[in-house]
Amino acid sequence: MRLLVCGGAGFIGSNFVRVRLREHGDEVVVLDKLTYAGRRENLAGLDVAFVHAGIEDAAAVGGAIEGAEAVVNFAAETHVDRSIAEPDAFVTTHAFGTWVLLEAARAHGVRYLQVSTDEVYGSIESGSFTERSPLAPSSPYSATKAGADLLVSSYFHTYGLKTLICRGSNNYGPYQYPEKLIPLMVLNALHGDRLPVYGDGMQVRNWLYVEDFARAIGQVLAHGAPGEAYNVGGPDECPNIEVVQRILALCGADEALIEHVTDRPGHDRRYSLGSEKVRGLGWQARTRFADGLAETVRWYRENAAWWEPIRSGEYREYYQRQYGSQIKG
Ligand code: NAD
Ligand code: DAU
Repeated sequence: MRLLVCGGAGFIGSNFVRVRLREHGDEVVVLDKLTYAGRRENLAGLDVAFVHAGIEDAAAVGGAIEGAEAVVNFAAETHVDRSIAEPDAFVTTHAFGTWVLLEAARAHGVRYLQVSTDEVYGSIESGSFTERSPLAPSSPYSATKAGADLLVSSYFHTYGLKTLICRGSNNYGPYQYPEKLIPLMVLNALHGDRLPVYGDGMQVRNWLYVEDFARAIGQVLAHGAPGEAYNVGGPDECPNIEVVQRILALCGADEALIEHVTDRPGHDRRYSLGSEKVRGLGWQARTRFADGLAETVRWYRENAAWWEPIRSGEYREYYQRQYGSQIKG
């Protein structure tokens, strides 16, 4: 299949491209703005065409979409903490950028898949959200992602564009930028740095190995019904503090490195997705959390050349702003 993959130089997008080339032999054009989170290195050695542009750039999108059979949109600002500190780019990319892509897909009659998140449903104390649950996002990140989902659905209802939405739970695995919980904690543990746990650490996330999400997106693209949304949840849920303890054990580091810091404002307590609908398309998760976490720690241990430049660049300033005054040296 000929695919335009927007945001394909980020964590999930680059894993998706790798899976598609390896398992489907697709022809891929990646369009990516290369924000702090997007890196050409994530696509090293892959046979793809690359367009360096934002999804809000209609001319660049119009050129890149030529000949594509489907658009898969991963492009987004993705870190909840950054959305609380500086929401601007979240509004521009998720609202305006998604609109530009939808217009291009409509003009070219191309199928459109939006990659979305469990966070659009908000927090749930017990049980799981289905695709019929109301959207109740809490942060500027999840609110703008929910807005994008609604805009995508409107293009199905109003213009008949063949749209699909995939809502994933928390992904983890190789190539994830170390502002997110798992890679942050792995790198801090390997360096003997403090591990900043927000609040009591009893928030629960539903962990999904990134290649499992990539295959679910492929399954929805191939077999999903136009106009529909599909939840993709991981096989295991786990409170943050236990995730951190498991990482420390895998890294051979001491639990004394854990430091409880001020909680994230509006912090969602638990996410959980029911995935029966996507399982009905023939997908199921292959990787349990214990195995995927061990594999992820191994990958970070063996790929210092990937993360060393990150830890010394923009990331260092971000890290200082986020944690500097709160954690002991
Ligand atoms: P990421 O931050 O690692 O990558 C985002 C990519 O988008 C980067 O390559 C960045 O350069 C690019 N980008 C950002 N703004 C852009 C713009 N305006 N135009 C073009 N490119 C732009 O994110 P990720 O974790 O890989 O997430 C990918 C998608 O999956 C996002 O839509 C996110 O909301 C969704 N998602 C993420 C998770 C998760 O746990 N990480 C779970 C469910 C859904
Ligand atoms: O649920 C899917 C979402 O998962 C995606 O849509 C987002 O793009 C992605 O960033 C992720 O959001 P979270 O807020 O759940 O992920 P994050 O890795 O930032 O945090 C996971 C949990 O760990 C959350 O409860 C906050 C907590 N945390 C995070 C960091 C960075 C800490 O306790 N300490 C930290 O330093």
